[in-house]
Formats: sequence, structure tokens, C-alpha cells
Amino acid sequence: MFNPDPLQDRFGRQVEYLRLSVTDRCDLRCTYCIPEGFHGFEEPSHWLSHDELVRVVGAFTSLGVSKVRLTGGEPLLRRDISQLTQRLGALPGIRDLSLSTNATRLAQHAPALRRAGIERLNVSLDTLKPERFAAIARRDCLDQVIDGLMAAKAEGFAPIKINMVVMAGINDDEIDDMVAFCLAHGFILRMIETMPMGETGRNSQYLDLQPVKQRLQQRFGLVDGVLPGGGPARYLQSPDGAFSVGFITPLSQHFCDTCNRVRLSVDGTLYLCLGQDEKLELRPLLRAGISDAELEQAIRAAIELKPQRHEFRENPGKIVRVMSLTGG
Ligand code: 5AD
Ligand code: SF4
Repeated sequence: MFNPDPLQDRFGRQVEYLRLSVTDRCDLRCTYCIPEGFHGFEEPSHWLSHDELVRVVGAFTSLGVSKVRLTGGEPLLRRDISQLTQRLGALPGIRDLSLSTNATRLAQHAPALRRAGIERLNVSLDTLKPERFAAIARRDCLDQVIDGLMAAKAEGFAPIKINMVVMAGINDDEIDDMVAFCLAHGFILRMIETMPMGETGRNSQYLDLQPVKQRLQQRFGLVDGVLPGGGPARYLQSPDGAFSVGFITPLSQHFCDTCNRVRLSVDGTLYLCLGQDEKLELRPLLRAGISDAELEQAIRAAIELKPQRHEFRENPGKIVRVMSLTGG
């Protein structure tokens, strides 16, 4: 949709992508994401309703945002997620509606989500070994995740990207197995460097992915490639383009210069950067009866606050939010 006055921040970056956390709850407890016994979840009266979510996303689309990704926590835990998805997908101006999930409930939801207009899926999967999965996610449900993935493949979602958080001494010995698994099923593997999020990420074993990238490049004869849609991953591809593997390297090679996204958490807080505190709380404004024009104005003003970059490397202790609250 033509927008004469797109959302642009102080650094000339155009914001065209909203990550929408539809719940902060999750049925897993991945060590790098949520501390075990975590009690800081948002109270239900603070969750934006379906109507409120649709209204906020509508305001963003009026401002030229055309890509929306549903995240969590685990988005499939949100009640009536496929109805919400359908309503969001029907908003004029949405060009690309996608979903990030841990896939524990994907087998049940895949057909309805496909009908609701989702095409692209990102699935978190760090290991193919059941005991290891139980240690990383603190819940023993690798089988459900694999079932979910196979259901999604059968349902025709494409592309399906697998996000693997690579941790030294924990799952870095499985990289080649994950490459083979994704190759066999036509999934795109993306390896992610563990970020120092909340108290847990700081203790996780950070692994620099640059040497991994070089090793895979040589071993499989891969070349630098780009995938449509951009995003923070840097890709290697086979020369015929049939196989792609991506690297999300917030620490070893950050990608803030081309950041095009903001995040809305389920309580209506608009976060301008995953690694910084700048934010705007939209819930009080929405519940005070703000007009559409005022809502758009508030969002425009918030974009001015978008920081230049995160400081995960220089200042790893800075951020106290856990990922499942911000929306991963
Ligand atoms: N570092 C990197 N990625 C993280 N995620 C959550 N916590 C972290 C972290 N500390 C991301 C991963 C995971 C998704 C749900 O959120 O991509 O697959
Ligand atoms: Fe849940 Fe994803 Fe966090 Fe794991 S990383 S606890 S699946 S939100």
C-alpha cells in the first residue's frame, strides 16, 4: 500500500515490521529464555484483547507496516489464535503474516493456521536428542515438536525455518546433524548466537558462529546468498540455491544498521529494541479511549525513540527483561 509518509527513525531506518507477542506464557522453560520458577508473568487483565490487538496492528498498517509476525511466549497458547490470525490477516495493508512457535501444539493448529493465511513459519528447535531437549527446554516433549513440524510440512507451509540457539558444550556438536535433518525435510536452518537476555542468557554458553560459518562453507562448498524478505540472518547457499543455511549473529556481527522492526508485548508495551529499554506503553492510551489519529501520532513519536543499536557485547548485564515477555 502506498504510504507517502513512512515510519522512519532518527537514523533513517524505515520501520515496516511488527513482531506481535500474543501471550507471554510458554509451555517450555528454555534455559536461555525463562528462569525456572519464573513468576513475573503479566496478569490477564493487562493482556490486550483481540479487539485491541487488531486495532493496534491496524494503526501500524496505516503507517506503512506491512509485515507482522505473531510470537510469544508461545503464541499457540493464546485462546482462539486462529481467529485472531484471520482478523489480522484481513487487515488492509498486511502483506506478510507469519508465526514463530515452539511447535509443541503445532500439529493441532496447523490446518486452521494455514486457512487463516499464515504461510511462513519459524520453529524453535535446538536439538534432535530427546534427553538433551528435556535439559534445554526443561520439558520432555521433543516428539510433539517433531510431530508438529511434520504436520506443518504436510500442510504446505513454506518456507519453514528452524531456529537453533547454538550453545558451546551443549548442542554445538549437533550442527551437522541439524543441517542434514533440515536438508532432508526442505527446512531452512538458522543458527542463532545466544544473547545475554535476562539472567539466564548471561549464563548460557555463548558460541561465536563465525568459525562455524567458515567450516560449513568449506565443507559443503557454499556461497554467500540472500533470501527474499531480508531479516537479520546472513545466509550461505549451495551454488544451485537448493539449500540455505542462515546465521543470526547479534554478538559477533550485529545487524542493527538495517533493523526494520519494533515489538509489541501482550500488555501493550511497544519496545523499540530487543536489547534496550526504550518503550511506549500503549495500553493506558487505548483504554483511555484515544482516537485513531492520536494512536498513530503516539506510534510515530515512539519510533523517534528507537535506539541506534543494542549493547549485548559491551554491556551484557544491562537488560533484565526475559525474552518471553518482550516477544522473541
Ligand atoms: N538468545 C538467543 N535467542 C533467544 N531466544 C530466546 N532467548 C534467546 C537468547 N537468550 C529466541 C530463540 C528461540 C526463540 C523462541 O527466541 O530464537 O528459538
Ligand atoms: Fe518458550 Fe521459546 Fe522461551 Fe523456549 S525460547 S521458553 S519455547 S518462548
